[in-house]
Amino acid sequence: MVAKANGMKASRESSPDDTWLAFFDAGLKTLETLEEYLACGEQSKRAQDHGCFAHIALDAKKFLRDLHKARAFLRIAKPRMKDSRFLDVGCGVGMKVQLASHVFSSAHGLEFDKGYFDVARRLRDTTLSYGVDYFHGDALKFDGFSAYNVIYLYRPMKDIEKQMELEDRIVVQAQKDAVIIAHLCGFDRICRRKRDPEEIGLHRLFDTIYVKTSQRRLEKIQEQMAAQTGNLSTVWW
Ligand SMILES: C[S@@+](CC[C@H](N)C(=O)[O-])C[C@H]1O[C@@H](n2cnc3c(N)ncnc32)[C@H](O)[C@@H]1O
Repeated sequence: MVAKANGMKASRESSPDDTWLAFFDAGLKTLETLEEYLACGEQSKRAQDHGCFAHIALDAKKFLRDLHKARAFLRIAKPRMKDSRFLDVGCGVGMKVQLASHVFSSAHGLEFDKGYFDVARRLRDTTLSYGVDYFHGDALKFDGFSAYNVIYLYRPMKDIEKQMELEDRIVVQAQKDAVIIAHLCGFDRICRRKRDPEEIGLHRLFDTIYVKTSQRRLEKIQEQMAAQTGNLSTVWW
């Protein structure tokens, strides 16, 4: 306003919020640089032959936004939940697991490529990260998806048939009210399957976030979320 009155080009004055966000961005950029360094080793031949993508990191800010929404959903869907459990399916060097461990009670990562897995494990062992654990194995054979409240995946498999098989496997095993955060995946295909509004199925909550619940229950929770998030900063929504 002062700038305008002085005949200068009006510019948006920076608020304490903007300053805080700039620092927040700086922290995330540093984290992404570190992740790039940790993941600079070659993808293993075995993982390539199995149809896996190499470690490609999702943007950390996008990831945190998704975690925020997942937590908002769970706070309404499961208000008495004490132990919230997160799983990254194809965790690479495990940075998203580290981030999630500060939001949920425990955070685990599953990784096929032994090279990436070793880096993730070493990092955890050296920093004694609380609530963090990693498993080396094939997600296509994993039977533990039902133990998690939040399941995250950033397009692990290049092989489209295997990727679809993995998605089906996750949805079948996922517990009621589980949140699935999925980037560049094909869960919409599963959502489109028509079902009774009372039957538990997979539904889209936001663009990259799905929940396993009934259509009716989802609508009720969405109403509550809309009432609660009316006051929240659009940075997150
Ligand atoms: C695109 S990267 C995602 C890395 C990390 N989750 C992120 O979001 O930044 C995909 C990872 O999934 C792993 N992956 C692919 N197929 C897998 C499988 N069947 N089981 C376990 N891990 C797998 C790859 O080795 C790779 O590290």
